[in-house]
Amino acid sequence: MENRKNFASNIGAVFAAAGSAIGLGNVWRFPTEMGNNGGAAYVFIYILCVLFIGLPIILGEFIIGRHTHKNNVDAYHQLAPRSGWVAQGYIAVFTGWFVLCYYAVVAGWTLKYLCVSATNQLSAITDSATYFGDFSSSPWSPIIFTVAVLLITDAVVCMGVQNGIERFSKAAMPLLLIIILVLGIASLSLPGASAGMRFMFQPDFSKITSSTILSAMGQAFFSLSVALGCLCTYASYFNDSTVLTKTAGSVALLDTLIALLSGFIIFPAVFSVAGAQPESGPGLVFITLPNVFNTLFEGIPFLGYLSSTLFYLLLIVAAITSTISLHEAVTAFLHEQGMSRRAAARVVTGVCIVLGTLCAMSFGPLQDFTPFFGMGFFDFFDYLSAKVMLPVGGILISLFVGWKMDRKVIYDEMTNHGTLARPMYPIFVFLLRWFIPIAIILIFLNELGVFSRL
Ligand code: PHE
Repeated sequence: MENRKNFASNIGAVFAAAGSAIGLGNVWRFPTEMGNNGGAAYVFIYILCVLFIGLPIILGEFIIGRHTHKNNVDAYHQLAPRSGWVAQGYIAVFTGWFVLCYYAVVAGWTLKYLCVSATNQLSAITDSATYFGDFSSSPWSPIIFTVAVLLITDAVVCMGVQNGIERFSKAAMPLLLIIILVLGIASLSLPGASAGMRFMFQPDFSKITSSTILSAMGQAFFSLSVALGCLCTYASYFNDSTVLTKTAGSVALLDTLIALLSGFIIFPAVFSVAGAQPESGPGLVFITLPNVFNTLFEGIPFLGYLSSTLFYLLLIVAAITSTISLHEAVTAFLHEQGMSRRAAARVVTGVCIVLGTLCAMSFGPLQDFTPFFGMGFFDFFDYLSAKVMLPVGGILISLFVGWKMDRKVIYDEMTNHGTLARPMYPIFVFLLRWFIPIAIILIFLNELGVFSRL
């Protein structure tokens, strides 16, 4: 096996980790969940989840990864040899693999919409719901785009940590920030902007139920890319000079900003178009928005063309920086078991093509195939990962770092061997030891209806 590479620069490390975090979760899933859960109250709970649950877990993963410089499974082997903890490493890697399979499907839809928009065909769509329904249920097209996304991801991962992942992230992240700012400003200047803003910022706390909280927590985990081995794997490529607390803070901040900015783009535009509903489910980005682009810019088609193309470009770039991290977490694991990097990547891509195809077909030929508690492949993978495995992984990581790991290692990693101040250290350990596991368990029990039966 060739020597293990690190990221060449600290900014490359931040961009790669932020690239993993920022993805469809921010631009597609967050506004959808916010729309379904009543807007501002959801945003408030979401931010609390990011600060008190997501951020400490990111830091925990960074500590594990940077200290061991190993893939997610071998890291646990090193830190807790011959113990059951290594199961957490396997769970994370395999759940990440599953996520990649269905995530690539939505990324594939995005790629299709980018092609449709860039070739100026979006404005010709008169009924966007039928168009999306026809496309997503057609037998071949969604599969072809899913496979295309997987092959692009494979190509970047095969180029390696510095030449592939770091270079791609360094080009993608600034592009993404510029596009999102341009679109955000444009959307805020629309006539419906104030209704959109009210929806995002005027909380109605009566809308908060246990399932809102569970959704917000699942969304925070998903959006921050925690508990799937991605951040841990990326941290294993961090240098000794990377400041973990600062990097974790930057990732959480950038991720949350992009999620909110996506709301700024989407909701003012949605509210500007009469009849467009904020809570239109996962179709928000693929059904409501094409409508919005077409209606808003009826008189000035070029602006419609430009904004829709930029929007889908933003979405696909964000999605691919995330698929790369999911892919890399599994590839690094297989590679470090002795396969060449290329062969490992091919195995990961091959399995994803098979399972991704099944997920893509859940909307078409396999629509009625719902063997998983009434869910098809796509919904089941999404439910299992975001609502079950991510919180479970979150508990395990926090218990592991909080109780099992050597305190000296945590201290050394947080302070870069005593060279940095350590104001966060006691809070961090407290949150991981007590607050996070208890909070996640309570939210779970509540969701299962345990408290209402008492
Ligand atoms: N965080 C990514 C997003 O918001 C998705 C993701 C989850 C990527 C888990 C890697 C690991 O879209």
